[in-house]
Amino acid sequence: MENMVEIIIAGADFKKLGVKTLIIGIYQKAELSQAVKQFDSSYEGIISGALKNNFFSGEKAVQKSLYIGKNGLVSAVLVGLGEESKATLESISDALATAVRTQKEQSNAPLGIYLDSFITRRFSEEILIEKIGVSIVLGLYQFTEFKTKDKDRQKNAGEITVISSQQKKYAEFLDKGCVVGKAVTKTRTLANTPPNIASPEYLASYCTALAREIKLKCTVFNEPELKKMNMNCFLAVAQGSSQKPKLVILEYHNGGKKDPVVLVGKGITFDSGGLNVKPADGMAGMKHDKAGACSVIHVIEAAARLKLPLNIIAMAPLCENMPSATSYRPDDIITSYAGITVEIKNTDAEGRMILADTLAYAVTFKPQAIIDVATLTGASRIVLGSYGTPILGNSEHIISRIKNAATKSGEKVWELPLWPEYEDDLKSDAADIKHLGENGSAGTIIGGVFLKQFVKETPWAHLDIATTSTAKAEKGIFSKGATGVSVRLLIELLRNWH
Ligand code: BES
Ligand code: ZN
Ligand code: ZN
Repeated sequence: MENMVEIIIAGADFKKLGVKTLIIGIYQKAELSQAVKQFDSSYEGIISGALKNNFFSGEKAVQKSLYIGKNGLVSAVLVGLGEESKATLESISDALATAVRTQKEQSNAPLGIYLDSFITRRFSEEILIEKIGVSIVLGLYQFTEFKTKDKDRQKNAGEITVISSQQKKYAEFLDKGCVVGKAVTKTRTLANTPPNIASPEYLASYCTALAREIKLKCTVFNEPELKKMNMNCFLAVAQGSSQKPKLVILEYHNGGKKDPVVLVGKGITFDSGGLNVKPADGMAGMKHDKAGACSVIHVIEAAARLKLPLNIIAMAPLCENMPSATSYRPDDIITSYAGITVEIKNTDAEGRMILADTLAYAVTFKPQAIIDVATLTGASRIVLGSYGTPILGNSEHIISRIKNAATKSGEKVWELPLWPEYEDDLKSDAADIKHLGENGSAGTIIGGVFLKQFVKETPWAHLDIATTSTAKAEKGIFSKGATGVSVRLLIELLRNWH
């Protein structure tokens, strides 16, 4: 169950709200903002005093608690936002999310945020407040579904009161941020759900239930249909597991006669590597190999909740990659849905196989664009480390839109080339193509080059989130485990689609 975040906007009258701890944002050095001054004068100059005596300076990401003991308010938590002239939407978001998370970890006391204290002339209220909404939801996020202790504490772990003197004006911006934030946290929760629970069947039922709730069309293709359709690359990966494959298609139609935008997400519920079994270190964490599918499911949900004027289709091929007597093998040659024959070299390169058939199927919807999101290659860490997502594609237009959306959303992407030279690496002795290069060089690019064969002329981009879909430690808006990367980016992209 997802924590319910309740954000109430009330007038700046702290007495009646029952808030015990109040988070206040302070920019460094600048004169105290009007909003903070007001608070300061009602509470005997406690903030200006703290600044004057160098108890607190507003330094970026530094937090200090002050005892208040007045009007029911027990403490104020001052959150440093750094120099106002250098503050970015990311730095403000990280500072706020960290403050929310640490306060919730420390105490169960009702928590409030003084929204007006974060306002700065540097950003439009609309953009900043939406980001604040996202940050609050992400700061509150915890994956506690499988913890049996401290249930009481978890109950109000998701509750927070947002206090503002401009409640009418800001509520709409904050709500939009919450829609985006929740799409990210729901993606995290689904991706974090362990593989013994989150089977292809579980994910398909999850989609059916979601579709019913928000009135999306949902089609689930089961194994017999997939066989009839000749989705043989997808079926080959699935055949080693006792879990049956499912292809989920979610459709949101609010764009009249416009061609759809199709989002495709890799949904391997567990990647053991198959017969080319992964070493123990590489296998742990492979429940996250469904992160792409989890993203596209919640991006289409957010698009529906935001009532975007578009037709969007989300496709999630779901299966498990396991070694067994029925597994597909290295040396197998498989005829894909598109008719291209593929020689298998390593069963651990399964993501591109399930995507090959899904992308080729997506083409039949005559989309304006196809965007796939996939934990495709460990090599993505070699290229960009864990801070950015490699993107590749066949359309400058789509790529540049994605780059813009990434910047606005706070995500980082970097383009890699799909030069025709790389296609030589996929030449096979026995089939049309093989699915890997010779020696693992340019692994992330080769993954993209392989996928490109299946989208024909359709404008397409591929996000390789293998490294960015998980975080090793909590930091700012990120918690440990699934990050929900690509969700903020894709929602931003779709909101500005015309
Ligand atoms: N799911 C993995 C990619 C991955 C690796 C995701 C590490 C997250 C963290 C993918 O299916 C895979 O195993 N890729 C191989 C490709 C290789 C066999 C060409 C890889 O990256 O080693
Ligand atoms: Zn693999
Ligand atoms: Zn995989």
